[in-house]
Amino acid sequence: MKGQTAVSHVKQRIDLLVGEHAQKLSERLQAHREQLFPPHARKSLRKFTSGEVAKLLGVKDAYLRKLSLDGKGPQPETGAGGRRLYTPQDILDLRHLLEKGAKAQGTYLPGRRGEDHLQVISVINFKGGSGKTTTAAHLAQKLALDGYRTLVIDLDPQASLSALHGYQPEFDLLDGGTLYDAIRYEDPVALKDVIQKTYFPNLDIVPGNLDLMEFEHETPRALVGGSGEMFFTRVGSKLAEVRDDYDVVVFDCPPQLGFLTMSALSAATAVLVTVHPQMLDVMSMCQFLLMTSNLLGVVSEAGGDMSYDWLRYVVTRYEPGDGPQNQMVSFMRAMFGEHVLNHPVLKSTAISDAGLTKQTLYEVERNQFTRATYDRAMESLNSVNEEIEGLIQAAWGR
Ligand SMILES: Nc1ncnc2c1ncn2[C@@H]1O[C@H](COP(=O)(O)OP(=O)(O)OP(=O)(O)O)[C@@H](O)[C@H]1O
Ligand SMILES: [Mg+2]
Repeated sequence: MKGQTAVSHVKQRIDLLVGEHAQKLSERLQAHREQLFPPHARKSLRKFTSGEVAKLLGVKDAYLRKLSLDGKGPQPETGAGGRRLYTPQDILDLRHLLEKGAKAQGTYLPGRRGEDHLQVISVINFKGGSGKTTTAAHLAQKLALDGYRTLVIDLDPQASLSALHGYQPEFDLLDGGTLYDAIRYEDPVALKDVIQKTYFPNLDIVPGNLDLMEFEHETPRALVGGSGEMFFTRVGSKLAEVRDDYDVVVFDCPPQLGFLTMSALSAATAVLVTVHPQMLDVMSMCQFLLMTSNLLGVVSEAGGDMSYDWLRYVVTRYEPGDGPQNQMVSFMRAMFGEHVLNHPVLKSTAISDAGLTKQTLYEVERNQFTRATYDRAMESLNSVNEEIEGLIQAAWGR
């Protein structure tokens, strides 16, 4: 009896308590964001040094200097110590200029031509924290910098990818604005209504937030009702609306195999599975692969398109000096062969520190880090992304 009284005294309404915590946290996050970015200011992208631009374009710095001296193309701003600085839009303008005089078509604008299909890359794994968002964000931004017209779509209700691009889902998208609005069963809107420009000239985004969960709740009802377009073709049909505007679409998937992830897999022409090379993660991936195979088999039988250009595993947060990790990587290579990308994404404080200020390595400036740390991380990300660009080109028959 005594015990019961004591218990009833401490009993609390969990909904109220959690609500109170959410309110407190939301206020603090808002304050934090206002410190990072002034209110209403959209994120913007830094300028790039002529050395960086030359590297991105695959030309010599001296050639860029000559172009600007000859008054051709965008004129760089001169910064401290006479450094020439280009805006991201300047880089894109240079691409257009150089492409006109290029010997081979697609040297500076490597995107689709003629009958080339839109490529849709889904970054997946249901292991949380395996590096999906980091991989998707760096891939999408690098594709944009390299001249591909890119759309990145946040399918995760937790919206980390959106946060990286300057959206705070709790504040910015109270009236929808996610992919859910375009794929829901009642009154779906046009995809272009939820696409937003980012501060990268060639990169657009469909942000995410908790609304995306609705799709998981509504789909079982729709399946029972048997009306309307099936869940697994809804994402693909929406992408068809904007097919001509992009070369590549990248999906950042949530860490679960729900209807959203399955729809993204059905819409995909390529799949990138992020793997942190540790025993528990690889065991979890095994289950993920089994489940994916079973579920997609069902979707395929129901008429879903399951044909792919490629599937690759990308090793993430790799520490070359770690024996067990190396064993895991060798084990994966032995089993999956060419399906494992040659280059891993190294674990780097440059990547995680940039993440703390909601930036990718392509956004931060080199002088904010120890040079060697920055260079090593950049080289590993570029190698991974260039390998993927090779697969994209191969899928277009080049
Ligand atoms: N190569 C890396 N080096 C250092 N830190 C990294 C690296 N890749 C990712 N991280 C960090 O690991 C954490 C998880 O990464 P990320 O958010 O990309 O994983 P995820 O698979 O998208 O997670 P979730 O399943 O929750 O969506 C982040 O804090 C990120 O900054
Ligand atoms: Mg994520």
